[in-house]
Amino acid sequence: MKLAFVLGTRPEIIKMAPLIQEAYKRGISPTVINTGQHRELLYPLWDFFGIKAHYNLDIMREGQDLSNTFARAISSISQVLEHHNPDWTFVQGDTTTTFAGATAAYYNKIKVAHIEAGMRTHDLFSPYPEEGNRQMVSRIADSHFCATPSNRDALISEGIAQDKIYVVGNTGLDSMAYVKPSDVEAKKWKTILLTLHRRESFGKGIQNILTAINYLADYGGIKIIFPMHPNPNVREAVSKFLKPSEAINICRPLEYPDFVNKMREADVILSDSGGVQEEAPFLGKPVVVLREKTERTETIGKSSFLAGFDAATIINKTVSLLTEGKIFQPDFVYGDGKSSQRILDIINK
Ligand code: UD1
Ligand code: UDP
Repeated sequence: MKLAFVLGTRPEIIKMAPLIQEAYKRGISPTVINTGQHRELLYPLWDFFGIKAHYNLDIMREGQDLSNTFARAISSISQVLEHHNPDWTFVQGDTTTTFAGATAAYYNKIKVAHIEAGMRTHDLFSPYPEEGNRQMVSRIADSHFCATPSNRDALISEGIAQDKIYVVGNTGLDSMAYVKPSDVEAKKWKTILLTLHRRESFGKGIQNILTAINYLADYGGIKIIFPMHPNPNVREAVSKFLKPSEAINICRPLEYPDFVNKMREADVILSDSGGVQEEAPFLGKPVVVLREKTERTETIGKSSFLAGFDAATIINKTVSLLTEGKIFQPDFVYGDGKSSQRILDIINK
């Protein structure tokens, strides 16, 4: 069986690497197509997971826009797929690479396997453009691999045939097994881990979030670690609105195992990331979600808390989590670490 994997951003490689490794274990040598939508965020991950790309399409441009990124991706993916003509093309999630990869496969009449299918907010502008991308991929995919039963139900309600939908958990949590846990040291302060990158928060949203961070930095007894995403919109907002403070450590994006270990050490995680909303519950860590809507609803009100872009809500929720000191148990609702095996069992049938 000939398989192709299309990926290009940090979360896609983290969530597809265990699947590619599982294919190798079963004697399948898939073609790995890296669009290069991300650059330095991807570099360390190839060695870490022990996988290689057969193609690097090098599409990233500084401050790239959606249309041109999509155009560069689809034309170059299409050429590779035409040449290899695989039985299945795997895409993951809802990025520009995902949508271009699925569309290129469809145009070449190659079957599409969609990993992390069925996530929905039902608002095309939150997350933007991810909600549109994933809805469009669902229209043209042949197999839909969902993380949770509610993702499956969303697809069924859109008229997708039940026998093409599989609930397998999220492959991102398979990758946790690659991380060696570091020792967690006792400390005199509380630690917040912060990440930000979503397009729909650029403008007033990110300004409000950073106002809340300034307040938390001045609160006393709190240290904030902020591995900053290289998106120029994030950098610009941070330089404008985040006050310099000894309590805030702004650093480069962390390598994946270091980031996972920072999550383990953190008292509270503040993030607009999709992957982090799955990983934090898996690790038993509370996460304040810096978004107005989320498709990861299974843990809302349990270990994740939707704060929106309101500074007071972000501050109050974070302070109460830090002061209550409640212990959160690991929750495997988004995946148990065996999703890749299930997917390849199904594809191999
Ligand atoms: C993209 C995805 C988003 C995903 C996120 C994961 C789309 C539309 N968005 O958002 O769904 O959650 O990745 O991180 O597909 N840049 C670099 N180096 C890198 C990566 C990015 O410099 O390694 C900078 C570039 O200037 C680039 C910009 O960030 O133009 C934006 O990258 P882009 O992939 O368009 O958007 P993300 O915000 O990363
Ligand atoms: N991550 C990382 N280093 C960081 C921040 C995040 O390796 O400094 C990992 C994180 O563990 C998760 C993934 O990147 O697996 C999430 O990527 P991102 O937030 O960029 O995208 P999203 O999941 O929102 O699409």
